[in-house]
Amino acid sequence: MVVRIEPSILSADFSAFAAAVASIPSADLVHCDVMDNHFVPNLTFGLPMVRRLVETSALPLDVHLMIDDPDRWAPGYAEAGAHTVTFHAEAAHEPIATARAIRRAGARAGIAVKPTTDVRPYLAALAEFDQVLVMTVEPGFGGQSFMAGLMDKVGEVRAAIGDRDVWLQVDGGIGADTIATAAAAGADTFVAGSAVFGQEDPDAAVRHLRALASA
Ligand code: DX5
Ligand code: ZN
Repeated sequence: MVVRIEPSILSADFSAFAAAVASIPSADLVHCDVMDNHFVPNLTFGLPMVRRLVETSALPLDVHLMIDDPDRWAPGYAEAGAHTVTFHAEAAHEPIATARAIRRAGARAGIAVKPTTDVRPYLAALAEFDQVLVMTVEPGFGGQSFMAGLMDKVGEVRAAIGDRDVWLQVDGGIGADTIATAAAAGADTFVAGSAVFGQEDPDAAVRHLRALASA
């Protein structure tokens, strides 16, 4: 199985994103956490910052929208040049129409579920999505503990995906001690914030995580 490692710049120096991205050449994509202080109790950055990141990053961007009303805002991130735009099922009014709008604007479309959200209603519509994000913490903050109890949910999504080209992403608490558990459950795309940018050598951390997930 292909393993993708996505460092989350939520754990990087917010005044030096270009340097942070340059410090992880072994990564597959850069994970960008957009938070609006409504959907989650934290505020990060929005479209102007993502536009600049697209211009300056040598790696493709995976935008994780933790915002209200993604139906309105998500296509703009695809137009800005993000590789993947993932929005939360809990916040979307018309998830399928929103996914279609993201694809029309040229990006891969992802749907995310919080730990307590049932993912099954979306598995019937997998043809509409390019990524399913199973949150392994409550969204909003980096550095939280991985919720191992969600591995059954990951396995259920893996079974539903079969051989479709849909990436199965986990986000929250992924590090050297947890990534193999998530990989064994069926995840193939791993977001890691503190486990990469909290380390002295971020790129070595990326390579180490990839080896652990591939084993
Ligand atoms: C949390 C964000 C994550 C966060 C993960 O809501 O979606 O992407 O950066 O951070 P770690 O890997 O430190 O748990
Ligand atoms: Zn995220």
